Amino acid sequence: MIKPIGSDELQPRFVYDSEKHHQLMKEAETLPSVLISSQAAGNAVMMGAGYFNPLKGFMNVTDAMGAAENMTLSDGSFFPVPVMCLLENTDAIGDAKRIALRDPNVEGNPVLAIMDVENIETVTDEQMATMTNKVYGTDDTEHPGVAAFNSQGKIAVSGPIDVLHFSYFQDDFPDTFRTAVEIRNEIAERGWKKVVAFQTRNPMHLAHEELCHMAMDRLGCDGLVIHMLLGKLKKGDIPAPVRDAAIRKMVEVYFPPNSAMVTGYGFDMLYAGPREAVLHAYFRQNMGATHFIVGRDHAGVGDYYGAFDAQTIFDEVPAGALEIEIFKADHTAWSKKLNKVVMMREAPDHTKEDFILLSGTKVREMLGNGEAPPKEFSRPEVAKILIDYYQSL
Ligand code: ADX
Repeated sequence: MIKPIGSDELQPRFVYDSEKHHQLMKEAETLPSVLISSQAAGNAVMMGAGYFNPLKGFMNVTDAMGAAENMTLSDGSFFPVPVMCLLENTDAIGDAKRIALRDPNVEGNPVLAIMDVENIETVTDEQMATMTNKVYGTDDTEHPGVAAFNSQGKIAVSGPIDVLHFSYFQDDFPDTFRTAVEIRNEIAERGWKKVVAFQTRNPMHLAHEELCHMAMDRLGCDGLVIHMLLGKLKKGDIPAPVRDAAIRKMVEVYFPPNSAMVTGYGFDMLYAGPREAVLHAYFRQNMGATHFIVGRDHAGVGDYYGAFDAQTIFDEVPAGALEIEIFKADHTAWSKKLNKVVMMREAPDHTKEDFILLSGTKVREMLGNGEAPPKEFSRPEVAKILIDYYQSL
């Protein structure tokens, strides 16, 4: 099986030993505590679940800057984005060496993790601007990821963490939320050797479904792991429970048994396009995928990134940093001439009119009016779930 990044076995930061867990929960109640941002909480969940292996905790400013500027930490290891715990105020910490991190996304703000505080540093405006520009490719505050990153505060608290809870993800998505450890185990149980992962934050229409089939066929994969984001999204994106139901229906009806796993991870969307694509590949290797699909405008938003920037960025990844291979896909769409979904560059004799292309706005409008998009665009079972959602708004 493909090795995790940075160690032979995954070293998740979640405390699985129940006695130790109980002890730490008790200790947490005696520690100074801080309410962390949703982004930081997502980072903690990802570290708990083994996805960010071998990170042990939140980065200090030097490492965060290294990750942002050249995807390299001070010890020379590879990581594509800063993983920070940024706070507005650290008065509650004082000179404490151990603190409890409280979850902003669960009622009552329970303890999510305990941190051994190594550094408390103020990030300068210049450093925030550099990280923002490097990671998001813009400092436009209209960009949802830029806005979220810059709204957390400027004091970076760093150090290793022990994770005690998977936030709301395990309770809200018991059938879908999976740790990297669980996905590795399930891949092994199924006996899959070549495994392609598909990232999504959207319901899957026919072009996405066929993209997965194409990747599986061309790569000769035993299995597909659909791995959806379960964290926060920008306004207008389809909520995870609706998307989850639509994807499950699609897999049930249109995928052969034992060919696809429907899973998810607990992290807020960064909308960081190319950089997020590299992060996505990073944690798919950790969960045991050998291949990862990157298509058109991966993790993009608005017009901030070129349609294939999230593919070309892999040329900048230091040699040997990632073992997972990228399946770089062109725009897929239904060809009226060939009566099937194709990659557009593989139909060079086609004009735009030969494809069924619908904008996201158009699709939302149709669904909102109770109208199913053409069957060449959406499976009727998927359309029904989305229509029900849009009509409930
Ligand atoms: S993402 O933000 O999670 O990347 P989305 O769920 O829309 O958004 O896309 C999931 C994956 O499918 C990404 O790799 C994206 O590039 C790819 N993708 C989406 N639509 C198409 C399409 N029509 N053609 C090719 N790739 C696509």
